[in-house]
Amino acid sequence: MDRFKIEGGRKLEGTVRISGAKNAALPAMAACLLTNEPVHLENIPHVRDIITMAKLLAHMRCRVGSPDIPPSSFTIQAETVSHAEAPYELVKTMRASVLTLGPLVARFGYARVSLPGGCAIGARPIDIHIQALEKLGAEITMEHGYVEARTKRLRGAEFRFPKITVTGTENVLTAAVLAEGETILENSALEPEVTDLAELLIKMGAKIEGVGTSTLRVHGVDRLHGATHTIIPDRIEAGTFLIAGAITGGELLLTNCEPAHLAAVIEKLKACGIDIRCEGGGKLRVRAAKKLVAGDVTTEEYPSFATDMQAQFMALATQANGVSHIRETIFENRFLHGSEMARMGANIVMDGNLAVVAGPTPLSGAPVTASDLRASAGLVLAGLVADNTTWIDRVYHIDRGYEQIEEKLRSVGARIERVTQP
Ligand code: EPZ
Repeated sequence: MDRFKIEGGRKLEGTVRISGAKNAALPAMAACLLTNEPVHLENIPHVRDIITMAKLLAHMRCRVGSPDIPPSSFTIQAETVSHAEAPYELVKTMRASVLTLGPLVARFGYARVSLPGGCAIGARPIDIHIQALEKLGAEITMEHGYVEARTKRLRGAEFRFPKITVTGTENVLTAAVLAEGETILENSALEPEVTDLAELLIKMGAKIEGVGTSTLRVHGVDRLHGATHTIIPDRIEAGTFLIAGAITGGELLLTNCEPAHLAAVIEKLKACGIDIRCEGGGKLRVRAAKKLVAGDVTTEEYPSFATDMQAQFMALATQANGVSHIRETIFENRFLHGSEMARMGANIVMDGNLAVVAGPTPLSGAPVTASDLRASAGLVLAGLVADNTTWIDRVYHIDRGYEQIEEKLRSVGARIERVTQP
């Protein structure tokens, strides 16, 4: 199992190219199941979840080709899908496998997908995905740990999401595009990854109105065709590097990003005193604060502050002057990194969904354990400012969603290495 060894205390300076968004690439890859023609996807990050989705599509007998290693583009052709099943072995390593449910049942009238279990950050049920697909006419049964969906053809319907769900909106949207008649999805997620998916579907021939709003109106079509699409930049990777530049007292230029998708994060970091400038052409420059001050953050759905940036903000808060209040409203158990940061000397008191961080406190390098993808990113940031050596265990979590993080950090001056244990 790999670990990271970080020698903290180095200012990060230089340029970092932001990769494509994993959470946009995953639904885009699943959407390739909707047509028998090839779909070409560009700006795909080379991360473990993408490899898992590629394996899953190959398991379903799709042709998945990538001309370059590591992949930044994929051509996926689901000409024949002889195996409309997402098995437990793959779903347990990546719950986004559930994104194949909607497209499979819409195109083939049948899908069998293992139920994802809970994960380190919360229970994460898929009840709303199921309710919505039932509303579209799918007959759904759950047996032996699998969801089975059957239909002759899905029918358009009106559905109001009782709670905003990102992959729920994506799953149902990719089903509705091939349903007969009109579907109206209310209280849909507004995340840029949902909009990116809708834009791909429109290129494939889908008829969708209201893209970028909470009401999506879909006029089902009989078939979709191939398309070429470039995945949006990863706003969470960009946000993580903004904090990396600021927390180490350095200066970074981030290229290939979409500042508009980071508005809430940029606003919050600026309020903490960090100098962030949009330089046009997808570039963001971050310079450390003269005096870093505490800030309060509540995670909420887009366009508010993302839960996927909460752990990284907590690392920053340990170095800020004053008391920061961090409230997590999306997932019920997303503070495990807080206890690890406390082991490094941070002053963090957690009570339910509220973490109160008093700073600044010098962090001292320690062995810590990553519990999920973004927690790992938070711990890497903490390690970058800690004295001596920080060892981070279970970095397979970070490999799920950050492309070459240690290479990118090293290229701007961090001392971080991957140590592979036999
Ligand atoms: C997506 O997860 C992201 N994953 C997550 O990214 C992200 O943290 C999350 O959205 C919130 O922004 C992908 O896009 C692949 P939700 P998702 O459904 O869709 C509850 C990362 O680190 N809910 O929007 O699974 C749910 O339990 C990650 O990259 C139900 O109750 O999140 C949660 O409390 C992790 N029933 C809330 O809704 C349902 O049927 C929002 O979850 C569905 C969701």
